[in-house]
Amino acid sequence: MIISRRKFLARTAIVTATGTVARLSAAPNPSTEERYKPLVISTWPFGKAANDVAIKVIEEGRSPLDAVEEGISVVEADRSNPSVGLGGRPNSASEVQLDACIMFGPGHKGGSVGALEGIAHPISVARRIMEITPHVMLVGEGAHQFALAQGFGAEAPGKSGSKTPQSKSADSKNHDTIALLALGRDGTIAGGCSTSGLAGKLPGRVGDSALVGCGTYADSTLGGVSCTGDGEAIIRVVLARRALEYLKEADDPDYAAKVAVDLLVEEGRGEGGLIVVDWRGRIGSAHSTALMPVGWMSPTLSEPALSF
Ligand code: GLY
Repeated sequence: MIISRRKFLARTAIVTATGTVARLSAAPNPSTEERYKPLVISTWPFGKAANDVAIKVIEEGRSPLDAVEEGISVVEADRSNPSVGLGGRPNSASEVQLDACIMFGPGHKGGSVGALEGIAHPISVARRIMEITPHVMLVGEGAHQFALAQGFGAEAPGKSGSKTPQSKSADSKNHDTIALLALGRDGTIAGGCSTSGLAGKLPGRVGDSALVGCGTYADSTLGGVSCTGDGEAIIRVVLARRALEYLKEADDPDYAAKVAVDLLVEEGRGEGGLIVVDWRGRIGSAHSTALMPVGWMSPTLSEPALSF
């Protein structure tokens, strides 16, 4: 839905009246004016390791798609991470089922996997689906068999550190997806996300991180969005794609992020957040969680930047 500027502003005024914006505006604004191009930006403290790798890929002149895949892979490989990769929290059947999606702005190319077991890098499997099949998404055993046939090794789940207690409900500690966006020097945008999803979820449950348009969306004429948080709430409002519509309308990534996150709040139980980048390298972020650290790096910055 494209909303008019008048309705867009009116909507925000209503949000202010409910107190939502009071929380949002308390968060430092990453920037609506400065432009970072090229750029990588990601969610949560573990995104720092992803950004370090992704920005090198960009500086080598490689594709933002490579930056997204290689950056997210670093986090997936960290078995001490309780919410991404095979070290992630198990479902109610004590299995670790992983979701990921990747999207490349030019051509709206997308790939994703849902409920994938025993493969260390769902983001790479998602990319392979995008690149060599006519499909966008594979799930469960089909995704597993595809990954094996493509040479991805089977690996057992499990942590390198202590066990994480299970929780069946979403809260600010129970859905920390790695979400990453990369903008190339030429303005092409790629985005992706990867997660083990909600702890204690039903076997076969697939969250937003596997769904193009919900967990991630990229359109090089507009920008990219990637999300973290309560997958069910994010799916219900098709958060990533909706945020891009707000970006198109308002031409302000931070404003678009803040209006979009209110969709989660209206949903009533939407703990989550999103990062937004436009094709010019302006960035935005918003969250309904108490905190959502967002880090970004660009050769135009002397050091990595961070907001909460
Ligand atoms: N956003 C991750 C999940 O809900 O699975």
